[in-house]
Amino acid sequence: MAFARKFVTALLAATSLLCLTPAAPAADPAGPSLQAMKRDYARPTAVPFPADNPYTVEKVRLGQQLFFDPRLSGDNTRSCATCHNPALSWGDGLAKGIGTGGTLGRRSPTILNLAWAELLMWDGRKDSLEAQALGPIESGMEMNLALKDVVPKLEKVDGYRTAFALAFPGEGLTLANVAKAIATYERTVVSGTAPFDRWVAGEEGAISDGAKRGFRLFNTKGNCAACHSGWNLTDHSFHDIGLPDKDIGRAEHLPLPSMRHAFKTPTLRDVARRAPYMHDGSLPDLWAVVEHYDKGGTARPSLSPEMRPLRLTPQEKADLVAFMLTLTGEADPVTLPALPVPAQPAGF
Ligand code: HEC
Ligand code: HEC
Repeated sequence: MAFARKFVTALLAATSLLCLTPAAPAADPAGPSLQAMKRDYARPTAVPFPADNPYTVEKVRLGQQLFFDPRLSGDNTRSCATCHNPALSWGDGLAKGIGTGGTLGRRSPTILNLAWAELLMWDGRKDSLEAQALGPIESGMEMNLALKDVVPKLEKVDGYRTAFALAFPGEGLTLANVAKAIATYERTVVSGTAPFDRWVAGEEGAISDGAKRGFRLFNTKGNCAACHSGWNLTDHSFHDIGLPDKDIGRAEHLPLPSMRHAFKTPTLRDVARRAPYMHDGSLPDLWAVVEHYDKGGTARPSLSPEMRPLRLTPQEKADLVAFMLTLTGEADPVTLPALPVPAQPAGF
């Protein structure tokens, strides 16, 4: 048996050496067009960091402590990770986030792969991770710690003074550096290699035939790739996909008729780990999402021209879900940081 298998492998190797034309491998039943589609989905090899806030190990370490520290909230009950929890794919598993001021208006999105993001928030109202980071700390609804109190509160913690001095030599603990450290840590939160990536890289058996059909549908009849494009499965843009709630989304900040009810296209990386779905958490699972797209969404002037009834068969719906399941990466276990403690008072 073992010998026979070795022999077959050797024979295949010999044939591929003889085959000089770089055509799609005959083993791919769907042919070259599937190969062409795959090329748009290759993972990047490096994480981008902005020139005015470059990567350093010290900044990442400090940013992680701040991200997980409930002392950044007014009553010490909530950290960023309360709503962006690594065990829940950096969301909170709830339809709407719950902060110090009660239930928020929208679902807590994942912070995965935001190093590549252009505009942030469901409605695009922030233009960088640095610009976003202090918002939830200050918000009475989320963490409720006045910005004027952030530096004095952290200054009482000896370990933070040292960590800021190491991460920002010559500058130390400032509000701007709190934001820079958190943003640098967030940029290191990247989705792991998924079966889909292994398939894109050439491992034919990495995903099922149903998932391969689903990928084809995603790029053709399903029209999903019109918005969920590229390796991170987002065009970084805003669209009304016809969910029936009243939130006008992007139009609050960009008052154009086409931006009414438009929300940011979310990444679909690890999406199976992040139910319920959409800005309002209104769709409980991926099957409900596919049903929504199949119907085409609420007809109204702002509905994206890319939305239309799809008339998918039950098999096609199952294939689309099977494809989305292949986007779940190997989740790196996240070690929670030990948080710095205040200095020992004099006299002890
Ligand atoms: C009480 C829950 C809660 C807390 C605490 C919280 N967030 Fe959020 N976060 C949300 C919600 C909800 C949104 C989406 C709000 C919107 O789009 O209107 C969001 C959006 C974001 C986004 C934008 C993501 C994207 O895809 O555009 C980032 C980044 C982010 N939060 C980081 C943080 C950081 C950093 C902290 C801590 C300083 C934090 N959050 C604390 C609930 C929370
Ligand atoms: C017109 C652009 C567009 C098209 C076409 C589109 N999407 Fe979306 N998708 C979005 C936007 C925008 C959202 C967020 C909408 C919201 O929350 O209001 C979204 C949300 C999702 C979500 C939820 C993700 C999350 O974290 O909440 C999934 C899953 C999804 N889309 C899958 C698909 C599939 C599968 C298709 C094809 C059948 C598809 N999309 C077609 C733009 C699009």
